[in-house]
Amino acid sequence: MIIDTHAHYDDEQFDTDRDELLKSMHDGGIGLIVNAGSTLESWGKIRKLTEDYPFIYGAIGIHPDDVGTLTEDHMSEMERLLDLEKIVAVGEIGLDYYWDNESHDIQKKWFIRQLEIARKKEMPVIIHSREAAADTMDIMHEYAAGMRAVIHCYSYSVEMAKEYVKMGYYIGIGGVVTFKNAKKLKNVVEAVPLTSIVLETDCPYLAPEPYRGKRNSSLYLPYVAGKVAELKGVSVEEVIRQTEENSRKLYSL
Ligand code: NI
Repeated sequence: MIIDTHAHYDDEQFDTDRDELLKSMHDGGIGLIVNAGSTLESWGKIRKLTEDYPFIYGAIGIHPDDVGTLTEDHMSEMERLLDLEKIVAVGEIGLDYYWDNESHDIQKKWFIRQLEIARKKEMPVIIHSREAAADTMDIMHEYAAGMRAVIHCYSYSVEMAKEYVKMGYYIGIGGVVTFKNAKKLKNVVEAVPLTSIVLETDCPYLAPEPYRGKRNSSLYLPYVAGKVAELKGVSVEEVIRQTEENSRKLYSL
């Protein structure tokens, strides 16, 4: 089965047809979905999604764009949610120096704080990192050594990908790999072992070709699997089988 390791079905872009869409996942070959947390508002919606759909699991965390209003009370609430059976990871957390919504110090503080909670709970982390390659690597070395992690929507160099793989982390590959101008990411997929790759959508964002620019959904993951298979010189079935195994290890599914 195909596992979508990173989706946002709590997003309002799915408000008009969420149930219908999610009910079509099985026929579309999508077996399991992990819905990543982003804002405080997303947490309750994610919990509800995991209760309503047997094939949806959740991650709870705050995206670096939204850490500005966080308090320790929020961290306590997060810890309670992480104890729920279908909440399987902390995320997405990290650093985003592209949007730069919050100061780098504030972003680092809450990134590290959420890593500490994941370590305490012995849970994997979903890492969001944009234009913050060096700081992310430093923090992962210092605070996340030995932990399970996925570097979601990977956008950095081949060398850095290899270093993350050496640290035991997974590389999240989504629709971007199908884009004509994504030479760097294609090189990353060629360079890292298939045993370190997981598939993801980040939907509603980042739809693969031929749907680039449209609303994304897990139903388009076969296009991503197909491109990974082409780059690795293996069958699509092998990509689906191996990434399922990787995703299950990552999240203990
Ligand atoms: Ni995301």
